Amino acid sequence: MLRALRYILWAPVGAAAIVLFAVSVGLLKPGSRIPQPGFSVADIGGPFQLTSHKGELVSDADLKGKPFALFFGFTHCPDVCPTTLWELSELMKALGPDAEKLTVVFVTVDPERDTVDVLSNYLTSFDPRLVGLTGTPEQTESMIKLFRAYSKKVPTAGDGYTMDHTATVYLMNREGKLAGTLDRHEQASIHLEKLRRLVNRPGTS
Ligand code: NI
Repeated sequence: MLRALRYILWAPVGAAAIVLFAVSVGLLKPGSRIPQPGFSVADIGGPFQLTSHKGELVSDADLKGKPFALFFGFTHCPDVCPTTLWELSELMKALGPDAEKLTVVFVTVDPERDTVDVLSNYLTSFDPRLVGLTGTPEQTESMIKLFRAYSKKVPTAGDGYTMDHTATVYLMNREGKLAGTLDRHEQASIHLEKLRRLVNRPGTS
């Protein structure tokens, strides 16, 4: 019984991982539906409202009209998050003028510690165009669900904790639909190519 329940709870996480992997290796085009997991690429993304590291409200409507790259993480992350944000900063530099056609968004999965001030301070280490987003625990949870992402609080020694979380960078088109992903095991040159394609894609696709 318990085991069955565990499988059921993990099924959406597994399904999301499969979809994101399939998108990242180009098996799935936006709009395509894979039979098993019960949701399509088109189901990723949607309406949200969060607060930026500058204290401004930011919704999905504010991001529309320009493609965006979105990454979930948290400022206490020892390794993956700073590395990814550093790489995204480097990619923006490498994009040159094309970087202006892109918004890069860092969404904290740890709103408890990552307040507007903490985010704002943290982001001074990276490209100043990066947008940090935080929110209430409810807003954060619904954002994570919206992107079929995963995060989990993991206790550490003492009374501290760390966060397990999805480390995929979501590439969203100007309509706010999933257009691809950056996987952290790919080379930076592949990432740059994917970003260039994303921002220079004609029309709305
Ligand atoms: Ni992290």
